[in-house]
Amino acid sequence: MPTIQLKNINKTYSKGTNQVVVHNNFNLKIQSGEFVALMGASGLGKSTLLHLMGGLDKPTSGDVIIADQCINRLSESQLSQWRSENIGFVFQSHHLLPVLTALANVELPLALTPLNKKQRQQHAATALALVNMSDRAKHFPKELSGGQEQRVAIARAIVSDAKILLCDEPTGNLDRNTADEILSLLAKLNSDFGKTIVMVTHDLKASQYASRVIDLEHYLQSKECMSSIDDNSTKNVITKIKVCEQQGVKA
Ligand SMILES: Nc1ncnc2c1ncn2[C@@H]1O[C@H](COP(=O)(O)OP(=O)(O)OP(=O)(O)O)[C@@H](O)[C@H]1O
Ligand SMILES: [Mg+2]
Repeated sequence: MPTIQLKNINKTYSKGTNQVVVHNNFNLKIQSGEFVALMGASGLGKSTLLHLMGGLDKPTSGDVIIADQCINRLSESQLSQWRSENIGFVFQSHHLLPVLTALANVELPLALTPLNKKQRQQHAATALALVNMSDRAKHFPKELSGGQEQRVAIARAIVSDAKILLCDEPTGNLDRNTADEILSLLAKLNSDFGKTIVMVTHDLKASQYASRVIDLEHYLQSKECMSSIDDNSTKNVITKIKVCEQQGVKA
């Protein structure tokens, strides 16, 4: 079964009487271990799809099934716990806290875990080593280059050992060489550490690193996008969730 499934997704934003239909009967399967580059013109709904996959937003209708969990049916508190265990986010802007060192920034997502301070620091140090930033652990964000800041942000995204990384234009603010470094790093996290990566990007070189490029404009016209995913495994997940809901227990 794919690790990410968007099934019959409709997404409409409403503001007063104004409605923006962004996705209408959208279907997508992403297998575990894929590195997908999601490309296409501005406003097509790429970030919206990433937000749905990461449980930052909910579909108007349809289901988002990630590793056997139908996440749009989780409560807000279940969802934030689920996110912290399963998803690492990397954005165009790194969002590092300026008053914390690189190590302390990477350690932050572990604050609510049962790990003690020493264990949290060890995990953060390991994540920083993976992105080749050990020698800058005690530096503050303003003492780092843009590419180094993005490496620290990637370390923060992987420190909880999330299996899925969702990246929204991670190289958008970087020069060509630095962008290549970050794309190579993501490709390494995919090939050597088995991370499933979905990366929204306008970077034409992304196809050299990703295992699949989805051109959203073309994909929206495809049979795969329009036909709902009706394999039995998906049906089983939905049926199990519906039965659990009826019985008032957690799926
Ligand atoms: N919170 C919101 N409220 C209303 N409309 C929204 C909201 N978020 C996104 N939209 C609209 O949804 C559409 C898709 O937006 P989205 O950010 O997903 O596009 P995108 O493909 O990521 O574009 P870009 O490449 O410019 O980042 C746009 O028309 C946008 O105006
Ligand atoms: Mg976007």
